[in-house]
Amino acid sequence: MANYLLAIDQGTTSSRAIVFDRQGRSVASGQQEFAQCFPADGWVEHQPEAIWESVLSSCRQALENAGLDAAQLDGVGITNQRETTLLWDRATGETLYPAIVWQDRRTIEHCQALKEAGHEPMLQSRTGLLLDPYFSATKLAWLLDNIEGARERAEKGELAFGTVDTFLIWRLTHGRVHATDATNASRTALFNIYHQDWDEELLALFDIPAALLPQVRDSSDDFGKVDAAWLGAELPISGVAGDQQAALIGQACFTPGMGKSTYGTGCFMIVNTGDAPSLSRNRLLTTVAYRLNGRPTYAMEGSIFVAGATVQWLRDGLKLFANAAETEALAAETRSGHSVYLVPAFTGLGAPHWDPKARGAILGLTRDTGIAEIVAAGLQAVCYQTRDLQACMNDDIQATPGVLRVDGGMVSNNWLMQFLADMLDVDVDRPNILETTALGAAYLAGLRLGWYRDLEEISRLWQCERRFTPQMPAQERDALYRGWREAVSRVRTTP
Ligand code: G3P
Repeated sequence: MANYLLAIDQGTTSSRAIVFDRQGRSVASGQQEFAQCFPADGWVEHQPEAIWESVLSSCRQALENAGLDAAQLDGVGITNQRETTLLWDRATGETLYPAIVWQDRRTIEHCQALKEAGHEPMLQSRTGLLLDPYFSATKLAWLLDNIEGARERAEKGELAFGTVDTFLIWRLTHGRVHATDATNASRTALFNIYHQDWDEELLALFDIPAALLPQVRDSSDDFGKVDAAWLGAELPISGVAGDQQAALIGQACFTPGMGKSTYGTGCFMIVNTGDAPSLSRNRLLTTVAYRLNGRPTYAMEGSIFVAGATVQWLRDGLKLFANAAETEALAAETRSGHSVYLVPAFTGLGAPHWDPKARGAILGLTRDTGIAEIVAAGLQAVCYQTRDLQACMNDDIQATPGVLRVDGGMVSNNWLMQFLADMLDVDVDRPNILETTALGAAYLAGLRLGWYRDLEEISRLWQCERRFTPQMPAQERDALYRGWREAVSRVRTTP
């Protein structure tokens, strides 16, 4: 048995591949960014071939950097941007349209109409989700309605639907396997999280032919073999999970009440709620955290659409600095309690507001506002939004984590992490390995391949690099947060 696994992390702005050893240490990696396409206001697309090419090249790069041949690996794990929707021809593997990305808002009207017709409670009670363009169902319906002949061909069984995991599995196995895992399925709004199966009534509601759907497997399972043509050797695909769930696994949050927040393009706070799904009263999502041996573990999730993307916008759009790493020093220049708020509702507001028509704003500008204040406001927005989620979770499950584990590109910023601990008034733990998303996929694959006996063994591999402890006086915290709530109320389009 070899001692390495390859984890593919297909994210929103780049694809990464990381070789891990059995201790969960990253040995080498490869990464490739790809283009974001914005063909109309609120539309976000990816070219499927760009996704595919970037995955292949990052895998090859990772192997080269590790000095390994594919034959020296035990297997592959896949984690991916969730909800993003693809449709392809089963005979040729050709996609019919670009991937409609999770951030895409083109189906606002469809969601609105279904909401007005009173379908949201039924949808929530079966999927744990809400009627929002975020999820795959209305994106898929849009494809079927807007590509000539697609609906007919779908009904005849000629087409296949998939989220990015399914698309990659299909391509890597040369079309031999059309499958997804329960975590990814739970983001489509077509999957009944109680029955762990596609839901006929939801398929009817969104008018989706069942012939399009992939088979739903455990997160640690047999997903076929990577064809030797791609990496030079046949490799089993043994672990698959949506990226936020994979991060929960990489952070070893295996007991109810444990949670993590990932600060990537967006921010996703997920708390393990155990083996029974609990529905939110505060418009958070209930989702499958992972499914092992046919048994689902559930989680509550708060999804914020824009986190790191704000920093990207401040850098590339406003050109306020050249490198994201500069934001830490810039923010540290500001006096505490400055009054600038940046509400990053570039693509609407996610949880708990779910206001797809809201748009961003910078408020509270004064004559002495400079670049530093605007940058700090961009970073603080991420923390304020996390506090919004924390408040909802507190109310929903009375079990928000007393310690929050964090990961994602933004968490290397110490100023941001301290402000987060201050705003949440909980300890914030940054682990040794920040590639928790890819690590989660590797753990899932490793479980299947017998690397680990159980989750307990994986838990023991988690190590804290640094703990941030709250230091801000309660009065200051509350005043800052009140200012944020006021700023959000100014951009909302719904009460
Ligand atoms: O739900 C969307 C999420 O999976 C995207 O994650 O890391 O690509 O921003 P990320």
